[in-house]
Amino acid sequence: MSSKIPLPPKDLQSTSGPFVESEYISHGIKQANSLIKHNIIRSNYNVLDVGCGNGRVARHLVDLIDQTSGTYRGIDISSENIDWAKENISSVAAHFSFKAIEPGGKFPYADNSFDSSFARSLYTHLDDETTRFYLTETARVTKPGSYSWATFFSIERETDLLAMPVDKHKVLRKVEKEKEGFFTFYRPEINRRLSVFTYDWLVTEIENAGFEIINSPLSQWFSGSTPSHPSDAQVPWIFRKK
Ligand SMILES: C[S@@+](CC[C@H](N)C(=O)[O-])C[C@H]1O[C@@H](n2cnc3c(N)ncnc32)[C@H](O)[C@@H]1O
Repeated sequence: MSSKIPLPPKDLQSTSGPFVESEYISHGIKQANSLIKHNIIRSNYNVLDVGCGNGRVARHLVDLIDQTSGTYRGIDISSENIDWAKENISSVAAHFSFKAIEPGGKFPYADNSFDSSFARSLYTHLDDETTRFYLTETARVTKPGSYSWATFFSIERETDLLAMPVDKHKVLRKVEKEKEGFFTFYRPEINRRLSVFTYDWLVTEIENAGFEIINSPLSQWFSGSTPSHPSDAQVPWIFRKK
């Protein structure tokens, strides 16, 4: 079924990351495989995708979530991306639905609605307060014992980031410390600042939201080795609702 879904127009593709057209499909498959590996996707699960964009990852899940026993719900602030996903993904997969939300608002779902959740390249775009609130909302709408998967730029300590030389993508020269544990750097391709959190900040906030942390990797990019692409620098954390 996924093969029936067309590619979004280039201007929408470029909002998803990794911002290179040839990687739109291959990178989405890579994320979907990570979700499968970490048991976020099961055929009978009700799955939440926070910051789903135009369904770059969702399109690879339509054959994996059973249309009679499972559902996918994607939310995002970009109504343009949501409209495209409704028209092109929900039209061939009725158990997949997409909804535009207001930035920073409550998620439009009841408590304990979902069996799992994921957020790819969302928290890299959010400030500390919205990140904290979205983690709390994720805990509210997911079931006790369920797993969540979310990518972050995570550093061990601030000196790792501030001491980094300008990298080959030339994005690490404009690092700012915003608050304790929260940094941003400028990404020229999208003319936007992206968020980086320290390990301790993330552990505290994820645990305070009501999760037990299962997997908490550091972004290798910030501790010396340059990934082949900046999008691979954000790493998936896995946490379980208590
Ligand atoms: C780099 S894109 C990633 C999209 C998708 N997860 C993917 O991997 O293709 C970041 C997405 O986060 C969305 N976003 C940014 N701020 C948001 C917020 N406060 N609430 C929900 N979505 C947000 C953007 O509209 C955008 O679609």
